[in-house]
Amino acid sequence: SFPSQVRVFEMSPRDGLQNEPGELITTAVKIELINRLSACGLSHIEAASFVSPKWVPQMGDASEVMAGITRKAGVTYAALTPNLKGVESAFAAEVDEIAVFSAASEAFTQKNINCSIAESLARFEPVLEAARNKGIKVRGYVSTVMGCPYQGDVDPKQVAQVANALYAMGCYEISLGDTIGVGTPLKAKRMLEAVNRDIPMNNLAAHFHDTYGQAIGNLYAVLEEGLAVVDASVAGLGGCPYARGASGNVATEDVLYLLQGLGIETGINLQDLINTGDWITRQLKRANGSKVALALGAQ
Ligand code: HMG
Ligand code: MG
Repeated sequence: SFPSQVRVFEMSPRDGLQNEPGELITTAVKIELINRLSACGLSHIEAASFVSPKWVPQMGDASEVMAGITRKAGVTYAALTPNLKGVESAFAAEVDEIAVFSAASEAFTQKNINCSIAESLARFEPVLEAARNKGIKVRGYVSTVMGCPYQGDVDPKQVAQVANALYAMGCYEISLGDTIGVGTPLKAKRMLEAVNRDIPMNNLAAHFHDTYGQAIGNLYAVLEEGLAVVDASVAGLGGCPYARGASGNVATEDVLYLLQGLGIETGINLQDLINTGDWITRQLKRANGSKVALALGAQ
């Protein structure tokens, strides 16, 4: 059955901006985006990514972004850390939580983090240990859970295997990424069932991209199974630079509208969120990817 409460994990400052083509987005815009998001009532914000700036130039100012934001009490500011070097910078920047990321597809893992799945998991061991020593929680992402841009179909068993490895290593939550948005509701349900065999529903999150317009349908399917954490990005910004054909995350505004319709609590203000999406899309000179934002409009 549906959960009574859902935690929305806002992705736009990281997943939303990492792939933006053209000029580098200024640090000031990133800081303002994060501050606006926390004012909307979002409790979890992925604020930055401590990856190689050669690989992802748009995230090159992660330390400056973290230093510049106004921290709101009760809000978790998270960041991606692919290796120990990233962890050291993330700790220096006083992030509240870190995240490691692998994938269910070998080909994608190779393109995204330049190693095999097994090597990525081995690389995360010292990351998890460092976090444990510091008392910092680690989230684990599994990408390409419903399809890979390089290898095509992905077996739910393979998703479960990588998810289990991250969970066993100590990740408190496993976020299941439909990186290129190719999933459909039944597929989402089957994939979740495979993962939920070994990992409790309370430790799982859905990270769905909306490339094929299926993300809201896919979310409905997994919410119905009791999943209660949803990753989303305001105005539907985003996509992974190493996922051919990837487009934005599901829009946070659209997720909120769905949840309101289901009578599920989030503590987030929809109009404030729409205004924030309107503001950032103007800054980026981008179209707004939220249907709900287009329907209701900024005020
Ligand atoms: P590599 O080239 O194999 O590693 O990259 P390396 O150790 O040889 O390092 C290369 C250079 O990067 C060196 O600099 C390092 O110092 C530097 P040089 O010596 O040449 O001057 N470097 C770093 N700099 C800053 N911070 C670091 C860091 N690490 C190394 N942490 C590496 C391997 C993992 C670093 C690289 O492949 C990388 O950064 N990849 C990140 C890719 C990425 O961010 N992808 C997008 C996020 S994942 C995603 O979007 C999916 C998700 O949304 C879920 C979904 O949708 O499915 C999460
Ligand atoms: Mg993503």
